[in-house]
Amino acid sequence: MTENTPKKSVTIGGPGSNAAFPVLSGTVGPDVIDIRKLYGETGLFTYDPGFTSTAACRSKITYIDGDEGILLHRGYRIEDLAEHSSFLETAYLILFGELPTADEYSNFMSGVTYHTMIHDQINYLYRGFRRDAHPMAVMVAVVGALSAFYHEDLDTNDPHHRLIASYRLVAKIPTIAAMAYKYSVGQPFMYPRNDLSYPENFLYMMFGVPCEPWQEKPTLSKALEKIFILHADHEQNASTSTVRLVGSTGASPYAAISAGIASLWGPAHGGANEAVVNMLGEIGSVERIPEFIARAKDKDDPFRLMGFGHRVYKNYDPRAGVLKSSADEVLEELGKGDNPKLAIARELERIALEDDYFRDRKLFPNVDFYSGIILEAMGIPTKMFTAIFALARTVGWMAQWNEMMEDPEQKIGRPRQLYTGAAQRPYVAIDKRR
Ligand code: CMC
Repeated sequence: MTENTPKKSVTIGGPGSNAAFPVLSGTVGPDVIDIRKLYGETGLFTYDPGFTSTAACRSKITYIDGDEGILLHRGYRIEDLAEHSSFLETAYLILFGELPTADEYSNFMSGVTYHTMIHDQINYLYRGFRRDAHPMAVMVAVVGALSAFYHEDLDTNDPHHRLIASYRLVAKIPTIAAMAYKYSVGQPFMYPRNDLSYPENFLYMMFGVPCEPWQEKPTLSKALEKIFILHADHEQNASTSTVRLVGSTGASPYAAISAGIASLWGPAHGGANEAVVNMLGEIGSVERIPEFIARAKDKDDPFRLMGFGHRVYKNYDPRAGVLKSSADEVLEELGKGDNPKLAIARELERIALEDDYFRDRKLFPNVDFYSGIILEAMGIPTKMFTAIFALARTVGWMAQWNEMMEDPEQKIGRPRQLYTGAAQRPYVAIDKRR
């Protein structure tokens, strides 16, 4: 049975009519009811705030089994990719569908490094910001501004143009993120170094200065490589759906990725890694954990345990599993094994996982729970955490955007609504209004 041959159908009743709708099967995962003709045949729409039950596209890139806590990119387990591959190898896999051969990998790396510099004029854009601007605000603006630099010659229907846009974005996003940081601390921008690995070059652009030779930081670049891999894609989450929605209008990919960055910024999504570290700081000591657990359970208190819960995972987020052991390793290597935030995080996790509130709702640590602790121990400022998430996720966004652009079934995104406002009524002149 292929995904295109419906194996069964579901009958849905409308006002005065019933109609059968095909059920489509993917490779793995739940079947979906194809309701594209629902309105035409029954006069009904579906109501699904937050799209909790709606598949908006077919995709071959990433598969999540939320009940089992499994994440696959192009069929490969995230744990294997995090252990054995480099970020650019995973990026190639996500973008092109297969792990690269040695030649393909080397060509891909040359292609990416060829595009790492940004147009010199962009330097001036940074100077328009306040020095304390959040790096995500700067990235939304600068990535959006790339559309002004690569507009005239960009045909989004041309696969070669899309490929160049993918190379450009994957190559330039570390430069853009690092420049946002450099601007905030008043240090000169560092031009990318193409002789360094992707994560090492990012560290160099963040922490290098023109007056000192760069000392490579293998512990940090290894940890960053893993963090990049774990954040590279995550199927149809809010920011990816935003990229697809913006891209569905035929807009520039740079504008679509800028919108994705804006969507990622929220604390319910990528902003959670920053929020976790702030929360652990606020908790301050292991003794105060019960107080915060009680607050998280109190329906009258808006406080939530940041880094806990996930729309899809109703089990341990496999990315959190990798990062938990990585946190132990990295902090040990950095001589920060006694980090108080890590101790609070471990104890918080232990207590929450034994608590009925969290067990009943299947709330487990997600990717953001441990990533912030590692990034903080590496000396990365808190405000850069979500920028680093955006940097890595650019790969997934571009792969998903490309897939959408190639998909003959895709249409401009246009959800419907359940209208609950006033029905049609006559206009009332101002002197007659009460
Ligand atoms: N702390 C306390 N209670 C929670 C939490 C939490 N972190 N997350 C969910 N709940 C409760 C929620 O109050 C609700 O309880 P009840 O059924 O009694 O009303 C129940 O669990 C279901 O929550 P929901 O808000 O309907 O679940 P959702 O799927 O809409 O939200 C989520 C998922 C990630 C937005 C949410 O779990 C959350 O806000 N977590 C904290 C923020 C966070 O860590 N975000 C990072 C997500 S992973 C990385 C990424 O995707 O960017």
